[in-house]
Amino acid sequence: MRNVKALLPFLFLFPSCTAISTITPTQPIKEGQTLLSPGEVFELGFFSPRTSTNRYVGIWYHSVPPQTVVWVANRENPLKDSSGVFAVSGDGNLAVLDGRGKTLWSSGTSTASNDTTATLEDTGNLILRIGDSNSSILWESFDHPTDSFLPLMKLRADLKTGKRTILTSWKGEEDPSLGSFTLGLELHMIPQVLVWNGSARYWRSGQWNGRIFIGMPYMYNVYLNGPNLVTDEEKKTIVYTYSYYTEEYTRLWLEWSGVIKRTNWNLQKKEWSIPWMHMRTRCGLYGLCGPFGICKELGSRICVCMQGFQPKSIAEWNSGNWSGGCVRKAQLNCSNEGGKGDGFLTIGGVKMPDFSDWKRGVSDGKACEDDCLKNCSCIAHAFVSGIGCMNWGGDLMDIEEFSSGGENIYIRLADSELGGKRGLKAIIIVVIVVLGVVIIVVCACIYRRWTTKQRDSVRKIKWQEMTLFHMGRNLDALGNSSDADIRRDGGNQTQGPELPIFEFRMIAKATQHFSDANKLGEGGFGPVYKGKLPDGQEIAVKRLSKTSGQGLQEFKNEVMLISKLQHRNLVRLLGCCIEREEKILVYEYMPNKGLDSFLFDPSHQSVLDWAKRFRIVEGIARGLLYLHRDSRLKIIHRDLKASNILLDGDLNPKISDFGMARIFGGDENLVRTNRVVGTYGYMSPEYAMEGRFSEKSDVFSFGVLLLEIVSGKRNTGFYHHEHSLSLLGHVWRLWNENKMLEMIDTALGESFPQSEVLRCIHVGLLCVQQFATDRPTMSSVVFMLDSDIANFRKPKQPAFTERRSQSESDSSERSHKKCSVNEVTVTMIHGR
Ligand SMILES: *[C@@H]1O[C@H](CO)[C@@H](O)[C@H](O)[C@H]1NC(C)=O
Ligand SMILES: *[C@@H]1O[C@H](CO)[C@@H](O)[C@H](O)[C@H]1NC(C)=O
Ligand SMILES: *[C@@H]1O[C@H](CO)[C@@H](O)[C@H](O)[C@H]1NC(C)=O
Ligand SMILES: *[C@@H]1O[C@H](CO)[C@@H](O)[C@H](O)[C@H]1NC(C)=O
Ligand SMILES: *[C@@H]1O[C@H](CO)[C@@H](O)[C@H](O)[C@H]1NC(C)=O
Ligand SMILES: *[C@@H]1O[C@H](CO)[C@@H](O)[C@H](O)[C@H]1NC(C)=O
Ligand SMILES: *[C@@H]1O[C@H](CO)[C@@H](O)[C@H](O)[C@H]1NC(C)=O
Ligand SMILES: *[C@@H]1O[C@H](CO)[C@@H](O)[C@H](O)[C@H]1NC(C)=O
Repeated sequence: MRNVKALLPFLFLFPSCTAISTITPTQPIKEGQTLLSPGEVFELGFFSPRTSTNRYVGIWYHSVPPQTVVWVANRENPLKDSSGVFAVSGDGNLAVLDGRGKTLWSSGTSTASNDTTATLEDTGNLILRIGDSNSSILWESFDHPTDSFLPLMKLRADLKTGKRTILTSWKGEEDPSLGSFTLGLELHMIPQVLVWNGSARYWRSGQWNGRIFIGMPYMYNVYLNGPNLVTDEEKKTIVYTYSYYTEEYTRLWLEWSGVIKRTNWNLQKKEWSIPWMHMRTRCGLYGLCGPFGICKELGSRICVCMQGFQPKSIAEWNSGNWSGGCVRKAQLNCSNEGGKGDGFLTIGGVKMPDFSDWKRGVSDGKACEDDCLKNCSCIAHAFVSGIGCMNWGGDLMDIEEFSSGGENIYIRLADSELGGKRGLKAIIIVVIVVLGVVIIVVCACIYRRWTTKQRDSVRKIKWQEMTLFHMGRNLDALGNSSDADIRRDGGNQTQGPELPIFEFRMIAKATQHFSDANKLGEGGFGPVYKGKLPDGQEIAVKRLSKTSGQGLQEFKNEVMLISKLQHRNLVRLLGCCIEREEKILVYEYMPNKGLDSFLFDPSHQSVLDWAKRFRIVEGIARGLLYLHRDSRLKIIHRDLKASNILLDGDLNPKISDFGMARIFGGDENLVRTNRVVGTYGYMSPEYAMEGRFSEKSDVFSFGVLLLEIVSGKRNTGFYHHEHSLSLLGHVWRLWNENKMLEMIDTALGESFPQSEVLRCIHVGLLCVQQFATDRPTMSSVVFMLDSDIANFRKPKQPAFTERRSQSESDSSERSHKKCSVNEVTVTMIHGR
C-alpha cells in the first residue's frame, strides 16, 4: 500500500493521472488521482461535464474519447473547487468530502466496521467491502445507478417490498443532477420497462413475454445480446446478458431528453455507434393516440380509433390533438342471454395496451375469453404464450399496431358493432381482399414452381421445403417408395400404409361426444380427449380445431410421418379420421401424463428415482436416434420438450407430437425456414435466431431436456439469484467450478450412482454447445450414455450464457423476416 503523504509532493507537481487500484481508509482519491479497474476498462475520479466548472466524482470508460460518464456520486452536490476528496469516511462509508471536510455525498449504508475498501470492477461496478476482497459486499454502485444501465447490472423490482432499481436521467447535458426522467421495471405481475417524465408515463416497452418485450418486436433479432428478464413470483430482475469485454463496450443510456439509447464503443474500429434508441418513431411516445386509439407508424394517418369507436372530439382529433382518444359508438350490452350480447373483435399484431390484469391459472385462449365474457367490466382480453391470460378493465392505453410482430388482442364490442351492415361491408371487403390475395398467391406459386424448376436444373437445389403442396412429390422422391399419400389416394388404401380410417361416429361415441369429462388437455391445434373403443382399447383423440389455419398442414404432416414410424419410444398412431370438417388423430392412450408433470411437480418428483430417469433419458435418445438415422426417412422433430415426452404405464418414454417435424432427404443436412416454430428454452440458437435447423437442433433440445431431467428444473423460468440467467448458464458455472453435484435434483436424495449422473450432465453439456458442429450426433449420445468411460471431449460454453461470436453471425445472413416463435405446440395429453 502506497503512502498518500509520500505521494503528495508529486501530486502537486504532476496533477494528472495517478491511478490506484483500491480506496482504503488511508488511501483516498484526490483531484488528479483516479481509481482504475484491473482490466483498465473503467476509471473513477473527478470530472467536470463539458464546459461546466463544477466537479463531480464519477466513473467513465478509461480509454474512450470523449469522456463518457456512466455513474456519478455527488450528482446533487457538486464541488466548486479542486479541493475534493473521495474517501472511506470515519463510519466506513464511501464519501465525497470538500476541502473543509464537509460530506457532499455518502454511500449511506450501515457498516459494522470502518476498515473498508472500495474497488472498481471491469464491469464498471464500484464495490465497498470490509477488509480484503473476499468478504461480502456492503454497497455497490450497480445498486445505485445514475443514468446508465451496464451489462451485468440488474434492474430489479420486488413486488413484495415495492423496492426497485431506478435510473434517473441527468438534468441536462452539463448537469448531472436529478433530471425529470426515470426508468425502471413496473411493479406488476407482468413486468414491463417504463420511462416516466416526472410521474407521467413517457415510454413503455410492452409486457415481457418470456423472450422479448411485446412492444419491441424487433428484439427477436438481438435476442442473444439483448436484455434478459428473470422472474419469479415476487421478484423481477432484468439483466443484460452482454459480456462487456468482447468487441465492444455497451450500455443503455437514459439521456437527459428522456430518450433511451443503446450506445456501443467498438474496440477495434474505435468508434461509437447507437444501434438502438426508442422514440425514433412517433408511436414511441406513450399514449399518443389517447384511450382506445391505435398508433400506426406507417399508416396514412398515425392515429386511428379502434373499430367500433369514434373520436371523442372530432374537431380536436382532426386538428391532430389525439390525447382525448376515442369513445364507443354503441354501448355494451352485458346480458349475454340469447346470443345477442357482446362479442369480441380481434386486432392483430399490436403492442398490448397498458394496465393489464393477469389471470392466474387460465390455460388457454378459450378459457380466457369465457372468463372475460362473464365479467361485465372486462373490456378486452388476450392470451399470449409466455404470459398467459390477460384482461383489461379500464381505458385501453398506448396501443401500437406493428407492420410485423406483435400479438392479438380481443376487444369487447356491442353486437351491433360486430355484425350488422357495417359487418357485412367489412365481410365483403375481406372477401375481396382474400380473393385478391389468393389469386396473387396462386400466381406466385405457379411462378415459383416454374422458376424453381428452372433453377433446379441449373443449380440442383438440395432440399425442398416439406410443405403440403410438395408433400406427395417429396416423399416419392425421397423413398422411391410405393407408399401412397393419403391425400392423393383418397381412400385407395390398397398400397398405402396400414392406417385405419376411423368413422367420426365411432370416435364421437368413444369419447362420449367429446365431453369435457374426457378432455385430457388442450394444445395449440385443438383439444385432446380420452376415449374407449368398443373392444375396450383406450385411445387418445386429438381433434384439430376447425379454425386453426395451420391445422391441415400439421395434420397431414403428422399423419404421414407417424404412420410410417414404428419404435417403442415413439407414440403410436392408431388411425385418423377426415370427415367433413373434422380432422382427428387417434393415438394409443398413455395413462401417465407428460414427463413435465412428473419432473417439475413437487408432489410427483419423487416418483422418478434415478434409475427411472436414466431409463427415460435412454429411451428418448433411442427414439430420437431412430428418427434421425434409423427410420427410412430422416426426421427432425423440432419440438422436443418435456411435455412432448409421454410416459406409459411402466414409465417408458414415448416421443409425441410430430406436428412440427420435418423430413429431410438423404444428404440434406441443413435447412433454413422462414417459419420458426418450437418452444422457447429448447430451441438451439441457430434455429431461434436464423431459422436454420438440422438434427443438431434436436440434439440441443435433447441436451436441455437431459439437464432438466437431472436437475428437476425447467430451463425457462429457471431463476438463480446470483449469477446465471438460465439453467444452462447455471450448469456451466457449476461445471467450471467442479460443483456439478449441486445441480442434481434434491428429490433424488442420496441414492444414485454418481458417475452415471455426472456422465449425463457431461453429455447434456456437450449437446447444448453453442455451435451445431460441436454438438455430438444422437448416435454418439446413445453410445456415450451407455459407455462406462467418462473421459469424453470437454464441452465448450453452452449457448445462451454469453453473446454469440462474430464469426457465426457473419457466416449466416439473417434470412427470416418474421419470426413467429409459438409456444402453441400441441401438448397431447397434458394441458398446461
Ligand atoms: C476506526 O475506528 C476506530 C475505533 O473504532 C478508531 O480508533 C479509528 O481511528 C477509526 N479509523 C478511521 C480511519 O476513522
Ligand atoms: C480470496 O479467495 C481466493 C479463493 O477463494 C484465495 O485464493 C485468495 O487467497 C483469497 N484472498 C485473500 C486476500 O484472502
Ligand atoms: C416532461 O414533463 C414536463 C412537465 O410535466 C413538460 O414540461 C415537458 O415538456 C415534458 N417533457 C417531454 C419531453 O415531454
Ligand atoms: C388537447 O385536447 C385536450 C382535451 O381533449 C385538452 O385538454 C388539451 O388542452 C388539448 N391540447 C392542445 C395542445 O390543444
Ligand atoms: C341487450 O340484450 C337484450 C337481450 O338480448 C335486449 O333485449 C336488449 O334490448 C339489449 N339492450 C341493448 C341496449 O342493446
Ligand atoms: C372483472 O374484471 C375487472 C377488470 O378486469 C376486475 O377488476 C374484476 O376483479 C373482475 N371481477 C371478477 C368477479 O372477476
Ligand atoms: C426406384 O424404383 C425403380 C423401379 O422399382 C428402380 O428401377 C430404381 O432403381 C429405384 N430407384 C432408387 C433410387 O431406388
Ligand atoms: C384405386 O382404386 C380403384 C378402384 O377403387 C382401382 O381401380 C385402382 O386401380 C386403384 N389404384 C391403385 C393405384 O391401386
